[in-house]
Amino acid sequence: MDFMKIKINVNNYDELVRLMVNCTKCKLSSTRRKVVPGEGPLNAEIMIIGEAPGEKEDEEGRPFVGAAGQLLTKLLNNVGIKREDVFITNVVKCRPPNNRDPEPDEIDACRPYLVTQILMIKPKVIICLGRHSAREILKMAGYPERSVSNISNIRGRVFNVKIGDITAKVLPTYHPAAALYNPRLRSIIEDDLRKVRGMLEKGGGGILDYI
Ligand code: URA
Ligand code: SF4
Repeated sequence: MDFMKIKINVNNYDELVRLMVNCTKCKLSSTRRKVVPGEGPLNAEIMIIGEAPGEKEDEEGRPFVGAAGQLLTKLLNNVGIKREDVFITNVVKCRPPNNRDPEPDEIDACRPYLVTQILMIKPKVIICLGRHSAREILKMAGYPERSVSNISNIRGRVFNVKIGDITAKVLPTYHPAAALYNPRLRSIIEDDLRKVRGMLEKGGGGILDYI
């Protein structure tokens, strides 16, 4: 994938947001209420990528504000990561009707926004929530699809990726929505988030341990 070609040419991040909130590039634009571009500091070291906005997100125009989002915020907090320090977004920026999975044409149409966000923010670590997000990001980075489609096999592992002119570590974990129904997943997600925290810790082995 030629990311430098996919990247949208904008002068600043606000311009990118304007393009997203007015976007009609896929059919989700006809059923969404609000577009959910994402939120967080543009110099965040950690980027979290979910799948798609749900009902509450569609209402508010903000990512991860429903039940799964509240759990995510709590799990981050439990391992000492502040949600406000993280840039949070989704693979697609508009809610699919009835929370169905985003379809390939929708993911394709929305990819330039995500790629441009990643290239502008230049995160050190990208946490993928759930298999759809993990599959999209790792496919982008050139991993064969069948090697990355089973979330239980790849969660907690650190992948080195090169996306355009940046390199980052990618760590897939379970989606917090899955952990709402299966509480056993909560401590696994926490372990994965703790690993990210450790990777970024100053003074310790930090990220160098994972290169
Ligand atoms: N689930 C997601 O994948 N993203 C959100 O923003 C909310 C719920
Ligand atoms: Fe545009 Fe993405 Fe929304 Fe589709 S999901 S309308 S491509 S912003």
